[in-house]
Amino acid sequence: MEEHQPPCSVELTESMERSECLRISRLISRHGILFWLLNGLIIASLASVSALVAEEQHQRISGIAGDVLEDDPVGRLKVFVYELPAKYNTKLIQKDSRCLTHMFATEIFLHRFLLESPVRTLNPEEADWFYTPVYTTCDLTSNGLPLPFKSPRMMRSAIQYISIHWPYWNRTEGADHFFTVPHDFGACFHYQEEQAIQRGILHVLSRATLVQTFGQRYHVCLKEGSIVVPPYAPPSRMQSRFIPPSTPRSIFVYFRGLFYDPGNDPEGGYYSRGARAAVWENFKNNILFDISSEHPATYYEDMQRSIFCLCPLGWAPWSPRLVEGVQFGCIPVIIADDIVLPFADAIPWEKIGIFVDEKDVPMLDKILASIPPEQVLEKQRLLANPAMKQAMLFPQPAQPGDAFHQILNGLARKLPHDSSIYQDSGQRVLNWTTGPPGDLHPWFGDKAS
Ligand SMILES: *[C@@H]1O[C@H](CO)[C@@H](O)[C@H](O)[C@H]1NC(C)=O
Ligand SMILES: *[C@@H]1O[C@H](CO)[C@@H](O)[C@H](O)[C@H]1NC(C)=O
Repeated sequence: MEEHQPPCSVELTESMERSECLRISRLISRHGILFWLLNGLIIASLASVSALVAEEQHQRISGIAGDVLEDDPVGRLKVFVYELPAKYNTKLIQKDSRCLTHMFATEIFLHRFLLESPVRTLNPEEADWFYTPVYTTCDLTSNGLPLPFKSPRMMRSAIQYISIHWPYWNRTEGADHFFTVPHDFGACFHYQEEQAIQRGILHVLSRATLVQTFGQRYHVCLKEGSIVVPPYAPPSRMQSRFIPPSTPRSIFVYFRGLFYDPGNDPEGGYYSRGARAAVWENFKNNILFDISSEHPATYYEDMQRSIFCLCPLGWAPWSPRLVEGVQFGCIPVIIADDIVLPFADAIPWEKIGIFVDEKDVPMLDKILASIPPEQVLEKQRLLANPAMKQAMLFPQPAQPGDAFHQILNGLARKLPHDSSIYQDSGQRVLNWTTGPPGDLHPWFGDKAS
């Protein structure tokens, strides 16, 4: 650390004299980190933090969380993967390959992973869990966003299919089945919250375990027992953009993305419940905030040069920024009340991120500037743990400790199933005609549906 050369030529010198910079450099080498108030500007320099971080990369996240992250699910569960007609899955990718890279791609890669996984069994009689591979978010508009409107019919159709062709669905009406529902509000299948709430979780999924990106406490779209996962962000795309870890973090707060969604929310206030608008209105001229709606080509590099990365809710509370923040060592500032973060039973998010209430956005500058440097350093150390980064990714091929393994760990922790899930033959609890009448129409795939 003593040898580390602080950068007196680049970012810092833009706002101070060289002698001043050298003085700070000495302070930095002594204290590792410095927040310095000058002429009303806070200059946050973390030149030697990365050195510290590199030093401690071999350390594990302390405590139980680390142990859970490293659990090996193989041998603890067996999964049977239903074989469905291609119209429910692979055919959709042929139609639109953008589904392979968008943030909802978990449904595709989890399917592929399970087909190759040692936990897969070809004998359904010995399975603990059943997986139905339906790609409900692979029906895209021309601008690449999923249309969730047919998803309920597609899902019902797939469940009807497995319930007719195998005896296992009827045995529990889904209680030992899991499904990936990566859309904004999971199995509520609508991107606008009010409508999602009104719809509720698709009734035929109400006994199943859901693997979803949506997580918010006390919300009808998050059923108890769901497994909340990170959104899909292409691992190699991010990993190819790593810059040297010794690069100073000269940006205090970073955000790129929408502040308003005039197309879908012309009056304002619904989108992001106004939180993103408040970020813009309060801090657009604040020198500590590097925020804009323009996505630059250097987005990933910029995150590696930033201390804090804002992760405000959009339509849903979650976004890929959390995954990106973790990959790039930028402390996620989570602005989404009651959010449930991915694998929250295994990852100590409260130690890693900063949580700011939506109503406190106007004080964001003061909140962030008052975090003690030791805390910043500790969070950066946790983020630098390779196990932490791995748990947020769905790499191909899969790797130990990645998000696939965390999902399996979550499923394994739910075993053994309670014997009460098994129903007498002919006993039915689910009502197939519950739900909006539009959802009851049959689904045919490609044909007029
Ligand atoms: C499961 O139950 C449904 C009716 O509830 C029935 O139509 C179907 O044939 C049953 N499946 C099997 C494999 O017996
Ligand atoms: C199933 O739900 C429909 C619509 O909500 C309702 O009309 C019907 O009575 C229900 N059937 C049973 C058996 O509860």
